Amino acid sequence: MSVHKEIKRVTTHVLSEMKLHGEKISMLTSYDYSMAKLVDQAGIDVILVGDSAANVMAGHETTLPITLDQMIYHGKSVVKAVTRCLVVVDMPFGTYQGNSLEALNSAIKIMKITHADAVKLEGGSEVIESVQRILSAGIPVMGHLGLMPQSINRYGTYVVRAKEEEEANKLLMDAKLLEEAGCFAIVLEKIPASLGTKVAKELKIPIIGIGAGGGVDGQVLVIHDMLGITQEFSPRFLRRYHNLAAEIKGAVGNYIKDVKSQDFPNEKEQYD
Ligand code: KIV
Repeated sequence: MSVHKEIKRVTTHVLSEMKLHGEKISMLTSYDYSMAKLVDQAGIDVILVGDSAANVMAGHETTLPITLDQMIYHGKSVVKAVTRCLVVVDMPFGTYQGNSLEALNSAIKIMKITHADAVKLEGGSEVIESVQRILSAGIPVMGHLGLMPQSINRYGTYVVRAKEEEEANKLLMDAKLLEEAGCFAIVLEKIPASLGTKVAKELKIPIIGIGAGGGVDGQVLVIHDMLGITQEFSPRFLRRYHNLAAEIKGAVGNYIKDVKSQDFPNEKEQYD
């Protein structure tokens, strides 16, 4: 039986059913109404309004500069477009670390204004108080471990995380801590496939990977990367399903040519 095909609306409960039935969860990012509508209509299970919006929408080098209000703007646009998938909004850097009351207020603001289904935040034991406080308000939380882009200034590099035993053990402990706290799912980013498989096997909640191998319960990619809109980013885990950059540049090139040659607009494309 395919859980995916049966249901009209994806909930956190549906995701755990998928894990139970061995059905992989599909997740992609989106940040705006038009793209989210297409992604939802295509049948995706989860849309993540990722703070990667800082990179692909705003052109920042890291995810750190994006603000709570900007994430809310993207979240609202996406929620308006979807009818079926679950929508998760990333909590941006500086809105939940170190102060659980601020974390709660940020999460409430996201949920109240965007009407999203859940929030996501990065970290394990360091942010557990914030996770617990948000959950206590009835807000579903998705965790994020492994490579955590909001901590890039601490790492200094985007290389694969948790290759060493100590970091791998901490990741597994953090994943268990998030599960015990009540998170409904966890994203694992850029870690060895064997560790991804181990975490997915030892936890009951769905584990969704980006560069965490095929042994986890689902996969997530940034939509601009998988559609080939971004060209300079080519990590090993990325599969490109299209070369939209070439298509867009080709179409825009044709438009420019037609305007310059006065082929556009023709007689049928103007009013009497
Ligand atoms: O912000 C984002 O797009 C993410 C994914 C990479 C998981 O967190």
